[in-house]
Amino acid sequence: MEKALRVGIIGAGGIAATVHIPNYLKQKNKVEIVAITDVAKENAKAVAKTFNINQVFTDHQEMLKEVELDAVSVCTPNKFHAEVTIAALQAGCHVICEKPPAMTVEEAQKMAETAKQYGKILTYGLSFRHTQEVDTLKRFIDENELGEIYAARVHAIRRRGIPGWGVFTNKELQGGGPLIDIGVHMLDAALYLMGYPEPDTVFGVTYQKLGNKPGVGLAGHWDWENFSIEDMARGMVTFKNGASIILESAFAANTEKHDEMSVSLMGESGGADVFPLKIYQEKHQTLIDTTPSFLPAKDNYELQMERFIDCCLNEDQPISTAEQGVILQKIINGLYESADKGEPVKFFAE
Ligand SMILES: NC(=O)c1ccc[n+]([C@@H]2O[C@H](COP(=O)([O-])OP(=O)(O)OC[C@H]3O[C@@H](n4cnc5c(N)ncnc54)[C@H](O)[C@@H]3O)[C@@H](O)[C@H]2O)c1
Repeated sequence: MEKALRVGIIGAGGIAATVHIPNYLKQKNKVEIVAITDVAKENAKAVAKTFNINQVFTDHQEMLKEVELDAVSVCTPNKFHAEVTIAALQAGCHVICEKPPAMTVEEAQKMAETAKQYGKILTYGLSFRHTQEVDTLKRFIDENELGEIYAARVHAIRRRGIPGWGVFTNKELQGGGPLIDIGVHMLDAALYLMGYPEPDTVFGVTYQKLGNKPGVGLAGHWDWENFSIEDMARGMVTFKNGASIILESAFAANTEKHDEMSVSLMGESGGADVFPLKIYQEKHQTLIDTTPSFLPAKDNYELQMERFIDCCLNEDQPISTAEQGVILQKIINGLYESADKGEPVKFFAE
């Protein structure tokens, strides 16, 4: 067996305990979780106890200094992603950082530059990339089944899904609401399937209509009195190659469906809905729809972590790169900036 990857966890909250740690533990022959750190000592200690992690810290710098690590999972609130990721890269660790990449474009750029400077892998927890639907459709797209994809529609809309736990409704710690939390997944999946084109202009609108009042809490009862994020974001993104995306994302909206996570792509030779996967084409003067009769039931979080581990061990490039993280952050922050200003935001070549 090759040497096991020595992993540290930064931030001992929900995503660390339900996704990162359990999926590292599934790869026991390849990974050893050596240490965990959290500013809240009781969180770090409780998670360490549950998963038998020996070394517990309350300061990530101390952990990075005292423990020899090959890789780190960054599972803190978004405000700390950049600071913690950069410190881990500088300490010689590969990093998987949870989504969204950061709070600002400058932070995402610095993270990508640091990864390059230190020759380390930096990837993000953009877990829908690793679904069977996206993997499968990517193979069709690579074989040019859709032709040039020039239009996409992205929805991440919950009827009443404002999280009633954690810091999801705190703009200061998260940087935004449904756009950066659930919209980011669908936006990233669309961008990936479109080849991550360079954005040209964004036009965004945000609303705070339901979250700042008490209501039916299907995801727990949220703190409506301190609700500082948007409950809905809408927007359009155009790209330098002429393509465009229309996006809608909401934690709460008066719609029929309780939870809609969807990506639709429209290309010159075909289109597709991604979740669930269905491909639309015109062949031999007939409009045909193609639905896979079988997709492997592989959990996308498990595959995300498996791929990260293999990239670290083999020094391979991840499918979700630090440079794509910068483009994603540009679009997100551009949409918020446009919503604030009430006018489109154009990106100029750097
Ligand atoms: N990929 C997904 O599907 C998904 C799902 C949920 C959350 N997330 C992301 O995961 C991250 C964490 O979310 P969560 O739900 O686990 O939050 P959480 O509130 O449950 O946990 C965050 C933990 O980080 C700790 N923390 C805060 N600042 C820290 C610091 N500077 N250093 C170390 N620890 C620190 C907190 O004490 C807390 O224990 C966020 O970026 C979120 O967007 C991703």
